[in-house]
Amino acid sequence: MDAETLLRTDRDHLIHPVSSWRDHEEAGARILRSGKGAWVTDIHGKELLDGFSGLWCVNVGYGCQSVVDAAAEQMARLPYATGYFGFASEAAIELAGRLAARAPGDLNRVFFSQGGSDAVDSALRFIRFYQHARGTPGKRHVIGLSRGYHGSTYTGAGLTALATFHRDANVPLSWQHHIPSPYPYRHAGDGEAATIIAESVASLRQKVEDLGANRVAAFFCEPVQGSGGVIVPPPGWLAAMRRTCTELGILFVADEVITGFGRTGPLFACETEQVVPDMMTVAKGLTSGYAPMGAVFMSEDIYTTIRDHTPAGTPVGHGMTYSAHPVSAAIGLAVLDLYEGGMLDNGLRAGAHLAARLTTMSDHPLIGDVRISGMLAGIELVSDKATKRKPAPDLQLAAKLSKAGYEAGILFRAFGDDIIGLAPPLCCTIEEIDLLCDRLYRVIDDLLPAIR
Ligand SMILES: Cc1ncc(COP(=O)(O)O)c(C=O)c1O
Repeated sequence: MDAETLLRTDRDHLIHPVSSWRDHEEAGARILRSGKGAWVTDIHGKELLDGFSGLWCVNVGYGCQSVVDAAAEQMARLPYATGYFGFASEAAIELAGRLAARAPGDLNRVFFSQGGSDAVDSALRFIRFYQHARGTPGKRHVIGLSRGYHGSTYTGAGLTALATFHRDANVPLSWQHHIPSPYPYRHAGDGEAATIIAESVASLRQKVEDLGANRVAAFFCEPVQGSGGVIVPPPGWLAAMRRTCTELGILFVADEVITGFGRTGPLFACETEQVVPDMMTVAKGLTSGYAPMGAVFMSEDIYTTIRDHTPAGTPVGHGMTYSAHPVSAAIGLAVLDLYEGGMLDNGLRAGAHLAARLTTMSDHPLIGDVRISGMLAGIELVSDKATKRKPAPDLQLAAKLSKAGYEAGILFRAFGDDIIGLAPPLCCTIEEIDLLCDRLYRVIDDLLPAIR
């Protein structure tokens, strides 16, 4: 198809995820054709430095031949094997084994999904099964964080606490609750780490007390809140929440869909504070976006409790046709080889440079806050630094930013509430990080006359 036909056909037929259908019809699609390393090229031949790894997922970068070869080999030899009725593929078994060996603590059991949303949905179902199995079916309420994102299934959208996902959807469901986000920049008090941690712990305790400990099953959180605006909690926060869940007798679930696979430095963000969750959800970097796949890790206790409660001959009723898909699994293995073969180390180096560059940029009058964890960063724009005043909504900053970024040859996430998200591929060179920051600085600086 030529460019014009592609644009027309897109407008007429392709529904885009989480988009304004009206705006999209007016603006049309930005159509990408190829990618190599940290770069993508659109159908007009324009090259763009991808500062967002697609959708925080292409962690190893584009065009990795070892990944392509692994997928092609698996696809040619055995493109599909069901996991039902006792069947399995070599790749899926191997991937489960390698992941279990690398996961925190006793998260030894892995259920594969197609992405992050159905990983979260699966986790919620397994939690119900677990509570029934241990004789506490009344423990069905689940608590998340405001500004949290846990995907787009019906149950995940309710656990999510972003207005876009609740509008006209009758969620959160009656058993889904939220406590405030640990958001240092917008903290109403002194913004000190100890205060924020103490407040989060107190909020969780209070919420569990209000609901009744015998009715609460689990607390979900992202180690860094991604879609809520890249909110990095203070050091010690994750470990404190884990400890509190143990004390309260509720499960602690880490949603590492974004933070997993080197995004914040280590393979899993929980490692930084030696946190061992009861369950962990992953996706994105698991296959680096080369094919769809997510996973739920569960502890030995959760697995054996459900197993022992379910009589022989009775299935645990949860599954999907493409669970543990062999091509995705083969890709996962090839991607894991890359992470362990130097990509995580490169991400650490590039992330340190990104942090240094962004910190320098924070002198800019429009940059209120810079927050960074490895190769994951948020830049919060304000119209007045002293008062932290947000730019006027009618400026439509997000649309302006992403248009200007595209013209400048960089991709990043422009959130609706004046926050810029960065998640460059871990393969970035220092020069590419410099180029990304230089271009981004100019894009922000060009906005100055419009905002002030
Ligand atoms: C923390 C978190 N959980 C779940 C999801 C949903 O994953 P997916 O878009 O693969 O369904 C996302 C997606 O961005 C996410 O960031």
